Amino acid sequence: MQRVGAFAAMIAEAMGCPPEYCEILYKAAQMHDIGKIGIHESVLRKSGPLTSDEWRLMREHPRIGASILAGSEAPVLQLAAEVSMAHHEHFSGAGYPQGLVGELIPLSGRIVALADFFDTLSIDRCYRKAHHDAQILEMIRERRGQQFDPRVVDAFFSIVDRLFQAREAINAAEEVADMTE
Ligand SMILES: [Fe+2]
Repeated sequence: MQRVGAFAAMIAEAMGCPPEYCEILYKAAQMHDIGKIGIHESVLRKSGPLTSDEWRLMREHPRIGASILAGSEAPVLQLAAEVSMAHHEHFSGAGYPQGLVGELIPLSGRIVALADFFDTLSIDRCYRKAHHDAQILEMIRERRGQQFDPRVVDAFFSIVDRLFQAREAINAAEEVADMTE
């Protein structure tokens, strides 16, 4: 979660977003998958491919998260609700839950979509091993203008070395925390 927050804030900064926005996006992005608490463990931890019924459940997590976070006065929670709702939309319109196209998707969602994709592919999952970095960058390049906003992808590549450094730093800090626990 911390990695996704950091990547999102760094991409927003590279896009020229104001510092106050980057700061709340750092926190809001960390809550993007909060709606998964409404999804049964057997679906979340499944090692094989999901059935169409399981997919239907899984695709509810953006709405569940947004409804958990909705109605707050706090700007960070308002942004978190927006992020939760929009982080699986695709720039092409092929995403979910609303199938929004292009700039109709809130900027926060377009940024977190890429931050989350980058992070998810970097780690081992119960259903597959982590991808190699070169492969991840290739997959992001291929999805420019399709799954992802081209401006967000360009900002990502403009700071790609710093993103890798941030990933290593957060992982190292996590290892230290694990050892001291
Ligand atoms: Fe998600």
